[in-house]
Amino acid sequence: MTTSFPDDFLWGCATAAYQIEGSPLADGAGASIWQRFSHDPRLMAAKGETGDIACDHYHRMADDVAMMKEMGLKAYRFSAAWGRVLPDGIGRVNEAGLGFYERLVDTLLANGIEPLCTLYHWDLPAALDDKGGWLNRDSAEWFAEYGRTMFERLDGRVKKWVTLNEPWVITDGGYLHGALAPGHKNVFEAPIASRNLMRAHGAAVKAYREVGKHEIGLVVNLEPKYAASESPDDKAATARATAYMNRQYLDPAIHGKCPAELAEVFGEAWVDWSAEDLALAKQKIDFVGVNYYTRNVTRADPTNWPLAANMVRQPLATYTTTDWEVFPRGLTDVLLWVKDNYGDPAIYITENGAAFFDPPVAEQGRIEDPLRVSYLRHHIAAVGKAIEQGADVRGYMLWSLLDNLEWSLGYSKRFGIVHVNFGTQERTLKDSAKFYREVIATNGACLS
Ligand code: BGC
Repeated sequence: MTTSFPDDFLWGCATAAYQIEGSPLADGAGASIWQRFSHDPRLMAAKGETGDIACDHYHRMADDVAMMKEMGLKAYRFSAAWGRVLPDGIGRVNEAGLGFYERLVDTLLANGIEPLCTLYHWDLPAALDDKGGWLNRDSAEWFAEYGRTMFERLDGRVKKWVTLNEPWVITDGGYLHGALAPGHKNVFEAPIASRNLMRAHGAAVKAYREVGKHEIGLVVNLEPKYAASESPDDKAATARATAYMNRQYLDPAIHGKCPAELAEVFGEAWVDWSAEDLALAKQKIDFVGVNYYTRNVTRADPTNWPLAANMVRQPLATYTTTDWEVFPRGLTDVLLWVKDNYGDPAIYITENGAAFFDPPVAEQGRIEDPLRVSYLRHHIAAVGKAIEQGADVRGYMLWSLLDNLEWSLGYSKRFGIVHVNFGTQERTLKDSAKFYREVIATNGACLS
């Protein structure tokens, strides 16, 4: 049977270090900003829920990889915890921490699973935060040093690298609204953090070209914005929201410039980028990683600072437990938007999935999660549609392999296709995992 998916399409799952590993300080690792944030009840929304144990993946890695193999995964996107590798963020390398990622990569390869390694999924070493974190211009060199350490040890065994996961969330959540680590609420900081993140991205790609021989890219979260009406105000709000979330990082990385709307959004807090900063951010990347969860129907709203735009709820739509509208067509639209606006790059879906309330594990070990199965079915089909219309999509990394720590929201938001009992650490494949196994085995043909 023919499908829209190329024969070598990379079917996988994604996770992130702090969300699953547990033992964040083991074997000489340095604390991260998430270690601090999750232990601070003034900051953490789900008070008392931390990454101390999480899915205990740090100790159960081999069993987890065996489970991935049983599910037929062809790829696995994980992130490395910077502070395991460099406890102070720079300088001394911690062999034991680096060794964990070497073992993970070797175990994946031994099981025929391709590793995709993300360098930064939000867990900045606390020692670097003490120096100003992403507000310090030196962060570009710090990140390049960490990248180089990883590339020198693992390039070749790892052939696909990601610099940053979702710089928009890092700045919007971490520096503007304070819902994520390091928990700052400061409009003047957000544009500075953004610029340094992209300088760091560029510096790491440059380091990769000196050391590495394979592929490196950037992961952005994209949420297509649809104007709620034809009114000029709603259309302008939609353009602002698109610039703020979807273009803020891709434009500098690929076109070497910043969207003009950002100055309007940030007002006097906006900082212009120098020609050198823009040149550093714009490095040739080998792929764009797209994380897609939902869309946004946008209307003008002067009371919603600083964007002056807001989302219109859809009364007839299904919403996930993170309150995101289920809208598969948005994934097709956004993939074609990337193709049309950024020079038809190679694309990997680096995250897509949904949190729903799952029933308890039935006696015979079954977990029925029909809403997640339906979400996946329609979103994967939406990827197929984008491929049929010419988008160069090469892989799909489902978020997530395991139920895990949903950052400040804790353990109640379950995104996994594998259920985790956080008391016993028992793993149980949900129906969605079995469905995904079938998708992989048929290269998507079972969807039609
Ligand atoms: C992040 C993940 C997160 C997921 C669901 C993405 O923004 O990369 O770490 O768990 O979305 O919220």
